[in-house]
Amino acid sequence: MSEKGKRIRVLDTTLRDGEQTPGVSLTIEEKLEIARALDALGVDVIEAGFPIVSDGELAAVKAISKLGLKSTVAALSRVDKSDVEALISCDVPYGHLFIATSDIHLKYKLNITREQALEKAVSGIEYAMAHGIKVEFSAEDSTRTDREFLGRMLRAVSELGIERIDLPDTVGTSTPERYADLVRFARSQVKTALSTHCHDDYGLAVANSLAGIVAGCDQSHVTINGLGERAGNASLEEFVMGAQRLYDYRTGVNTKLLYSTSRLVTKATGVFVQPNKAIVGENAFGHESGIHTHGVLTLPATYEPMEPELVGATRKIHAGKHSGSHGIAFELKNLGIEPTREELKKILHKVKVIGDTGRTVTDVDLDRIAREVIGLERGNPFLKVKDLAVITGINTVPTASVRLTIGDEQTMTVAETGNGPVDAVLRAIQKVTDKFTKIKLKEYKLEAITGGTNADAEVLVKIEDENGNISTASSTGSDIIMTSVDAMISGINEVMLRKSRATQKPEIPTP
Ligand code: KIV
Ligand code: ZN
Repeated sequence: MSEKGKRIRVLDTTLRDGEQTPGVSLTIEEKLEIARALDALGVDVIEAGFPIVSDGELAAVKAISKLGLKSTVAALSRVDKSDVEALISCDVPYGHLFIATSDIHLKYKLNITREQALEKAVSGIEYAMAHGIKVEFSAEDSTRTDREFLGRMLRAVSELGIERIDLPDTVGTSTPERYADLVRFARSQVKTALSTHCHDDYGLAVANSLAGIVAGCDQSHVTINGLGERAGNASLEEFVMGAQRLYDYRTGVNTKLLYSTSRLVTKATGVFVQPNKAIVGENAFGHESGIHTHGVLTLPATYEPMEPELVGATRKIHAGKHSGSHGIAFELKNLGIEPTREELKKILHKVKVIGDTGRTVTDVDLDRIAREVIGLERGNPFLKVKDLAVITGINTVPTASVRLTIGDEQTMTVAETGNGPVDAVLRAIQKVTDKFTKIKLKEYKLEAITGGTNADAEVLVKIEDENGNISTASSTGSDIIMTSVDAMISGINEVMLRKSRATQKPEIPTP
């Protein structure tokens, strides 16, 4: 049973365990930006890094410790003297010291006895504490450690007066029942505060962390988007929302910042969040099926377990083969179109025909279908491409130059560089739109839909206006650059059309 209202603590290890995600490496600037975001989010502790691993890592931890954040800044260290010295040199107040305690790690990784591990732990902790560091100790691989030895280790480190003990499920093999049992065992051995640290190899990291909290821990190590070694760590957003909403605990986290923090971490790490991920996935508050959209539009709680605003997300009704008339009518209203019953029926039928081909029905598709059915003019596109040239190659920075017609008569020519030719051309287009409106490319997805070098590709873009409204558009073709441009221009035109329908004509800049 959870103690209703109890305040539990969040140690975020996105910048340490999260950065250990294969293929992820953050620059100091990215680490600083994420640290500031975590501080604004309200985590209790930010584990900023593992100083011994590189000079850059040490410099980043040091820089984060100098930011003057409200969150406590911590760093990881093995119990070895050289590691602890690197930690001390970072000026962090809090050290996360660890040594493995399971026989498999002692024998095959460290090649030392249990007694030697115990001595190393005690002397490393004493050294850190003598230098004014507050210590949290992790008995790495706790869940696979012999209980008698684990008890001895926990009692020995606890007697040194450390702040807390962490019980890592290092390879993610525990279950909620077994993890709770481990926590109760640790509690029977020591009075020191306890933390959870659970990996997600069997998809149980959040469940195990919550079971650990219910059993007596008052802090969990978590990461944004569940990043971390192999299958990752317990995800911060799932843990926090589960703890607050399902178990009635309190945390210091401002949940309204969960979505934006998740996206910031995605951008910095390049690790995308799966659409169906809980809390921050793109579909977490998305609805397509007729039955669900009808329910949600009547009373959101029918098919939503929490309000999207609570985590900084927005509800999205999608058009597709599962759609019903309520959802389509709602989407059309957002596009400024109010069809009759008969027209709505025809529009719904056409949407389902596209859906049946396996294609995503974008806002541009829906707008086009509705206008065809009702016999409305779509209006002149706001942006048109007049000329386009792209260069790329070895020892050449990909560069694009585009001439666009804006509105009825004005033209503008811009050039931009990018990571690749598509990036360069999309940046160039964005450079033009930046002059008259705040819209940004939220998502770009490219999929080959046939095989071979002459394959057709489908590009899907999501464009966001300054009010957070998203318009989707797609294009299909064999030239990736032209297909990307086409999708981007359609998406922008859709946003501008909506804007001009909602107000008057969009303002056109003077050259
Ligand atoms: O998973 C783990 O055991 C760790 C330790 C360093 C605490 O990340
Ligand atoms: Zn870990």
